[in-house]
Amino acid sequence: EETERTDRIKAALAELGDDVVILGHNYQRREIVEHADFVGDSYGLSKRAAEADAEYVIFGGVTFMAESADIITDDDQSVILPSMEASCPMAGMAEALQVDSAWAEITDAAPDADIIPITYMNSYADLKAFCASQGGLVCTSSNAHKAFGYAFEKGDKVLFLPDKHLGENTAHRLGMADEIAQWDPWDPEGKDTAEVAESDIILWDGYCQVHERFRVEHIEAIREDNPDAKVIVHPECRREVVEAADKAGSTATIRETIENAAPGETWAIGTEVHLTNHLQRWHPEVNVVPLCGDACMDCNAMRQIDPNYLTWVLEELVEGREHNVIEVAPEEKDLAEVALDRMLEI
Ligand code: 13P
Ligand code: SF4
Repeated sequence: EETERTDRIKAALAELGDDVVILGHNYQRREIVEHADFVGDSYGLSKRAAEADAEYVIFGGVTFMAESADIITDDDQSVILPSMEASCPMAGMAEALQVDSAWAEITDAAPDADIIPITYMNSYADLKAFCASQGGLVCTSSNAHKAFGYAFEKGDKVLFLPDKHLGENTAHRLGMADEIAQWDPWDPEGKDTAEVAESDIILWDGYCQVHERFRVEHIEAIREDNPDAKVIVHPECRREVVEAADKAGSTATIRETIENAAPGETWAIGTEVHLTNHLQRWHPEVNVVPLCGDACMDCNAMRQIDPNYLTWVLEELVEGREHNVIEVAPEEKDLAEVALDRMLEI
């Protein structure tokens, strides 16, 4: 069945030629990744989308990534997401409307401060537009520290959304761990305005439900089993997990680390399991293991991109029919592009 589907995808791609480019995130299934022209992290994918000149950009990833690709590509290019159900739950944890009202409370709490909002790429276009409108920008896990640098040059406080763990890990990386205030929009007790007034970094209370499940005990168990094992985790993991690991970085950094590992080394990977599986396949000379054994650390949003849907959107394009085109509303597009361009420039 898989061979037949692979043949159909290849035949559709041959028919479509240069009209189509397939971009895939590192967390996509093998059956998607093997058809992609480029496989990478969120930052790499946004750069590739900006450079793409194909009429159709087929995006193996989640909605916020496809939205960003639509913003960055030209108006005569279409971005297609094979499943409209592929939505990252973390991106839904900071809705622009909700952030808008929190912004009024936060700026009231520190009336003399110049607060710059930074949103993680894992957010929708309207929030990116909001950040640009307040002098802020977008970042990914590979450049959050640079985005903080940009913001502190322009203002004196940062509101970071939606991922509190990436925010906290970045604050530590910059030696600003004592400067953190938490902002939990769902809990009246979690909005400490006195803390906001005193702190340089305000963290919105969002998180990734896949990465939050990694624990220090997983690292301890790996090391007990194999004292020479090294551990690399994604910075969406909890602070204590990042601290206990040997290294933390974006999915591109995780890939590079395994590419540069010496044969025979053992590396435990604390991120979405499909990337761990790819690394096992791509680097059989390295002993790559998932950080938490058999526990199922897969991202349901990423998994929505089923190879049958990829076949469907491609075969429909051959017939001249476009489906699942991601189009950011024109009133958000220009400002969201400013926020993304600021990131691409830093
Ligand atoms: P990267 O930018 O590191 O690829 O991460 C994206 C993501 O969604 C991690 O959960
Ligand atoms: Fe979102 Fe987490 Fe999935 Fe990444 S792994 S797309 S942050 S839910």
